[in-house]
Amino acid sequence: MNPDKQDKNAYTGKASGRQCWESPSNIALVKYWGKYPGQIPMNPSLSFVLKESVIRICIDYDIKPEYSFKLTGFKLNGQQNEGFARRIESFLTGIQTHFLFLKHARLKITSESTFPHSAGIASSAAAFSALALCLCSIEAKQLGTNTKNREFLQKASFVSRLGSGSACRSLYDGMVLWGESEFIHESSDEYAVRLDNERVHSDFYTLRDAILIIDDGTKPVSSSEGHALMHQHPFREVRKQQAHGNLKKLLLALSGGNKKLFCEIVENEALSLHSLMMSSNPGYLLMKPNTIHAIDVIRRFRVSTNIPLCFTLDAGPNIHLIHFEEDRQAVRELVQNELKDFCKEGKWIDDSMGNGPKQF
Ligand code: DP6
Repeated sequence: MNPDKQDKNAYTGKASGRQCWESPSNIALVKYWGKYPGQIPMNPSLSFVLKESVIRICIDYDIKPEYSFKLTGFKLNGQQNEGFARRIESFLTGIQTHFLFLKHARLKITSESTFPHSAGIASSAAAFSALALCLCSIEAKQLGTNTKNREFLQKASFVSRLGSGSACRSLYDGMVLWGESEFIHESSDEYAVRLDNERVHSDFYTLRDAILIIDDGTKPVSSSEGHALMHQHPFREVRKQQAHGNLKKLLLALSGGNKKLFCEIVENEALSLHSLMMSSNPGYLLMKPNTIHAIDVIRRFRVSTNIPLCFTLDAGPNIHLIHFEEDRQAVRELVQNELKDFCKEGKWIDDSMGNGPKQF
């Protein structure tokens, strides 16, 4: 699939202005782990976007035929961030074949996030999806095409994947799938798709995520390094099969409103992800002792109350306590009374399923 529908002669020369988007982070239920060149995932993944954990990005652009591409400034929460600026610059350089105007653009980027960068919540997903949306909006303005229709979002998903794989799942509300699966015929390795409403029982649109910040330090092994270790991983092929199998079961749980099965799969995915890290060569551990303590409390609470809640983990020590709106109060009390002590300075984020990106 080539999402570049633009006419190669459509580049119209001078333009300037500003485009701004707010885009959310997302939490994976079936995990993307391992990738092939070109940011092609080794297995399909499924996630939903969050409401509170978002980044707002504005791009000021000045395009002239005599200019060559330059990132003239980058600020995150009012501050320079050289490491992230370099990553963004290499992303923008790498995607110039997808946006003709970029070769002649000077861009200044400002961004504000609601959560700490590199705190174990996928801030790069929010950032790269917001960037891709701004770029697609600049292009749409130049070409006089529509924004926010299917093609626009598909291109934004395609492009954001090239910045960070999980970013391609941040473009939509509801349940979002990235990676080819025999069960969803419109699925693709190159962009994410939203699951139709009839595939998802209404209870699953009331999902919430209490994010327990167990540790907010920089991770010793980045996700990119972790993905790379999957190439030589002894369990690589088994993991691919497992992810397809878990996706199948999760799709059944979602369509049938089966919360118990949902919780089983979500936890199995989280623990499998971390066991893949431990059994990599070299092996490593991102969970902290308090991660394990919190998991123990969550599982005991589920057994004693029968409330359908479960945890998931990304590539970090923080816990995403996934639950339903109707159990919000009980979960709040659990966090306040038993889990907050395991969090760094008692920090946690009371988040929920969001509505996807917004232009502002
Ligand atoms: C564990 O999308 O951060 O959160 O493509 O290298 O940027 P890159 O990796 P990234 O990997 C996220 C992995 C994960 C699982 C998931 O979100 O599916």
